[in-house]
Amino acid sequence: MRNSSSGWVRLAGAALVAGFLIGLPSPVLAQGLAALGKEVWLTRSNCRDCHGSLGNGYQDDPQAPQGYNLRETILSPDEMRDVIRCGRPGGLMPSFQRTAWTDRAPCWGMVADDVGDMIPDKAETALADRLLNALVEMIFAEFVGKPDITQEMCTDFLGQAAARCVGFPAAGN
Ligand code: HEC
Repeated sequence: MRNSSSGWVRLAGAALVAGFLIGLPSPVLAQGLAALGKEVWLTRSNCRDCHGSLGNGYQDDPQAPQGYNLRETILSPDEMRDVIRCGRPGGLMPSFQRTAWTDRAPCWGMVADDVGDMIPDKAETALADRLLNALVEMIFAEFVGKPDITQEMCTDFLGQAAARCVGFPAAGN
């Protein structure tokens, strides 16, 4: 009995380690990534200035351009990654990848000359791919497809004391 249950524990442990090594999309890994992504969203980037802390397009900084409502996006995770790396040519979404528009690899095979005046601004802080992937994981886990924000969703995400949560309806209303 004892042997077989510790065997299972060892097997589960090995599966977890294998997951880390080969990047299996296990729920544990996804949660860790989303937590890192939340940190990037809240403290290591300025997305919130334009998209708002809750990603709903109400800017945290009223002087900043209004970003899209990420809760209502129809982009796939890969498409979203590209937009964050490269920004939107001709739009006000900045590019967050260090080599965007100088290397051809990140932005649809294009460099600055290909887009001329339409080249997006460069964000002040570039994001390495690891952080960018975590950010996209978090955006899909917390925002995408969840347009109606309740006070509970808001305080879960921003903490009980968050002043900006006051205006949202309580769950079920
Ligand atoms: C200076 C303001 C600004 C900042 C900072 C900013 N965005 Fe944006 N973002 C925009 C605007 C404006 C658009 C709409 C662009 C367009 O298509 O014209 C946009 C579009 C997007 C889109 C495309 C959504 C869709 O459905 O098409 C995504 C995804 C996105 N932003 C994510 C982010 C993330 C993540 C960050 C931080 C790493 C960020 N943005 C930082 C202004 C901003």
